[in-house]
Amino acid sequence: MPTSRKIRLASYPEGLPKDSDWELTEEEVPEPGEGEVLIANRYVSLDPAMRGWVSPLPSYLPPVQPGEVMRAGAVGEVVASNVDELPVGTYVNGVLGVQEHTVSGPKGLRVVNPELAPLPTHLGALGMPGWTAYFGVFDIGEAKPGDTVVISAAAGAVGSVAGQIAKAHGCRTVGIAGGPEKCAMLLDEFGFDAAIDYKNDDLRAKLKETCPDRVDVYFDNVGGPVLDAVLGRLAMKARIPLCGGISQYNTDGKPVGPANYLAMIAARAKMEGFLVFDFYARYDEAVDHLAGLIADGKLVHHEHIVEGIERFNEALNMLFKGENTGKLVLQVGAAA
Ligand SMILES: NC(=O)c1ccc[n+]([C@@H]2O[C@H](COP(=O)([O-])OP(=O)(O)OC[C@H]3O[C@@H](n4cnc5c(N)ncnc54)[C@H](OP(=O)(O)O)[C@@H]3O)[C@@H](O)[C@H]2O)c1
Repeated sequence: MPTSRKIRLASYPEGLPKDSDWELTEEEVPEPGEGEVLIANRYVSLDPAMRGWVSPLPSYLPPVQPGEVMRAGAVGEVVASNVDELPVGTYVNGVLGVQEHTVSGPKGLRVVNPELAPLPTHLGALGMPGWTAYFGVFDIGEAKPGDTVVISAAAGAVGSVAGQIAKAHGCRTVGIAGGPEKCAMLLDEFGFDAAIDYKNDDLRAKLKETCPDRVDVYFDNVGGPVLDAVLGRLAMKARIPLCGGISQYNTDGKPVGPANYLAMIAARAKMEGFLVFDFYARYDEAVDHLAGLIADGKLVHHEHIVEGIERFNEALNMLFKGENTGKLVLQVGAAA
């Protein structure tokens, strides 16, 4: 009988996830039932949000339970089908889990066009992080040509796309990332107008220097001290799409909130949290916009691929250690 490997949650991590928090199991490849397909997964998305999904604390999704296959987005190929619209050979994107094979009904599966871009890009610039950047910049950030847009975790999956789509829209873009290599990448590869190394620069002084007209939109991916520093440099009527707060995801206590929030009163600023899922009905619009920019050479997509399902924990932790550039994915099947 052919077998398939899966990552199951062993116990809820404390702080940074450890190898022992997961169990790698090898199980028989399941058969698809009536109205189901069998998908051979190729690439699994590694997302900071996974840390919140393995916490027993209440969140926007129910926690993964110990013993369950770890929740994850993934792209794969239909290899057996009892669904007419999803014949064998179709590539799909969905919440397929950290596993080599998934049986699923058609609900929640999106057909992926591999001619638009390589499969991993459908987990990055053309997938969930790209959609997050698109709706965060335009719907929540209300970015307008001429605005100064500051983005944190700017060399990552969401941030690198957010910077490029804002730039293509006529904004002035300033990226914040950790280390000189990432900052060089912001300028040379992702076309930011300025880069700030939050690990080595004086953040407040650099914000003053790189944002002479202050900050109209701050796309916050990290929270913590970076958020506080940008709050001190807001322009009038600034918008702050609150996308994520990765600096707080592995703290055992409560996350530290912004201390400098009173600056928002003086700036008459608006901070708004959002989840990409809220825009589900408009994902095609985002894909069209992003694919158009890729075709025009205005959006560079960058994927960071780690090979082997057994490296799941090591790869996940790269997000929290700042070891990834662009979209981090785990290759669990044949390269495509
Ligand atoms: N709201 C939504 O619907 C939604 C959807 C997707 C993602 N998100 C959020 O968006 C953010 C970015 O996600 P992503 O998938 O694009 O990840 P990513 O940026 O590709 O990777 C995470 C990056 O965060 C930075 N980082 C890690 N620890 C940090 C810390 N303590 N302080 C500052 N920066 C830190 C690291 O870059 P450096 O080397 O530069 O530090 C790391 O490479 C996350 O907060 C995520 O939860 C939200």
